[in-house]
Amino acid sequence: MERTFIAVKPDGIQRGLCGEIIKRFEQRGFRLVACKMIQASEEHMKTHYADLKETPFYGGLCKYMASGPILAMVWEGRSIVKLARMMLGETNPAESKPGSIRGDLCIDIGRNVIHGSDTVENAKREIDLWFKADEMLDYAPCAQAWLY
Ligand code: TYD
Repeated sequence: MERTFIAVKPDGIQRGLCGEIIKRFEQRGFRLVACKMIQASEEHMKTHYADLKETPFYGGLCKYMASGPILAMVWEGRSIVKLARMMLGETNPAESKPGSIRGDLCIDIGRNVIHGSDTVENAKREIDLWFKADEMLDYAPCAQAWLY
């Protein structure tokens, strides 16, 4: 079963959107395997976003991500990396379709409320960066037969 790293960003926390975001993943049929509130350091965010180092928005992005608590999560399910990205919408909320999280809940590219890993490889890297193995809980999935 595939896993991905999802985070409600500081603006999503401030705006009280955690419940709405968790609800969408649960209702889709995905399983929450790890979850914690954390205020990351700017250094941690620089590591997380290392592949964007050369972009003009890197500094501001890392500052904003470290400016308040985020809700860090690991979600599990079939093809979740790709399907979660579809649920998120486009990077720019203004280009995101209604029905997607960014298309429904935000407006500005610099305050786009949620992060989701973009590839299976990055999902593994990000999960390892944010969580220890013993923070991910294994439990019997209920009614799996009705999903797959
Ligand atoms: P990126 O990894 O390209 O997007 P995504 O979050 O959809 O995987 O960029 C990381 C974050 O950087 C993005 O969520 C919002 C911010 N960002 C800007 O502030 N300005 C920009 O022009 C871009 C492309 C991203």
